Amino acid sequence: MHERLIGPEGESRPVAADEAWRVVLAARGRAPRAAPGAGDPVPVRIGRDGAWMSRRPVSPEAAGLLDLYAPLAARLAAGPFVVAHLAQTLDGRIATRGGASRWISGAADQVHTHRLRALCDAVVVGAGTVALDDPQLNVREASGPNPVRVVLDPDRRLGGRFRVFTDGAAPTLLVCAEDRAPPRPARSAGAVEAIGVPRAGDGLDLRALLTELRRRGLAGVFVEGGGVTVSRFLRQGLLDRLQIAVAPVILGSGRPGIALPEVRSLAEGRRLAVRHVRLGADMLFDCALAPGGEP
Ligand SMILES: NC(=O)c1ccc[n+]([C@@H]2O[C@H](COP(=O)([O-])OP(=O)(O)OC[C@H]3O[C@@H](n4cnc5c(N)ncnc54)[C@H](OP(=O)(O)O)[C@@H]3O)[C@@H](O)[C@H]2O)c1
Repeated sequence: MHERLIGPEGESRPVAADEAWRVVLAARGRAPRAAPGAGDPVPVRIGRDGAWMSRRPVSPEAAGLLDLYAPLAARLAAGPFVVAHLAQTLDGRIATRGGASRWISGAADQVHTHRLRALCDAVVVGAGTVALDDPQLNVREASGPNPVRVVLDPDRRLGGRFRVFTDGAAPTLLVCAEDRAPPRPARSAGAVEAIGVPRAGDGLDLRALLTELRRRGLAGVFVEGGGVTVSRFLRQGLLDRLQIAVAPVILGSGRPGIALPEVRSLAEGRRLAVRHVRLGADMLFDCALAPGGEP
């Protein structure tokens, strides 16, 4: 939902994608403060409802960017919000059985993932992803601030050698079960802090985790993977938005994306409100999970 208003003569240079992205970051409250005297402000406004309007023509790339991110930025700015994203094959795999997942989706979806990191206060991954990928989880393919990195490692099986624990690029929270947590929250060099949350069923109490993240001012949360982690957030009813980028690839085997307890009838499946966004050769299914939410 947007309007394009053409400004006065002499202001007809189309708004470019990087300018539009700065507006999105500002609407989310995560743009760097502009230096005094730094050029004209970009004539694009994002409303609280996520609709955008521009007083100048907007390039097609910038318009696509605003359509995708303006509603997300507005929603994230409004309060606690949890979005998950997975890149998967046509047959629903996010990695080979051995854990190779780079890269299932194309460059546009990788940039999208980095933009989600920049828009959110925290990025969450499971121990499996850290063990197999040794990711950095910072923002490199877009401009914007790094999120706090949150690693779910209930029994502290990961050693300290992984980059999220050593590179100091952003703070890292190591989340383990309460019974495996250090007696007092301890920060190590490189701003790594281990915190405990209660166990619930066969995993961690993710609602308690989100409460703790919010207490720390981390209300916008991006669950980046892998499949087990996203599925557990989904199962506990804690996702507001689920984004699946489907790549035209068939593996025929490998690690599943979403895996939930077995259903016996189609009626038990969830049919979601969705919008489709083309990302190069991939298709992003941007699905609303919160009641009444339209993506
Ligand atoms: N295509 C994509 O979008 C994408 C994105 C990210 C990662 N990946 C790939 O995904 C693969 C890893 O994914 P995965 O599904 O196997 O594993 P994962 O989700 O990365 O990690 C799962 C592990 O994290 C811990 N964990 C996560 N949620 C938990 C919860 N609620 N309670 C307790 N523990 C929890 C558990 O550790 P314990 O086992 O210690 O109990 C669990 O086994 C890698 O190959 C990676 O390359 C793909």
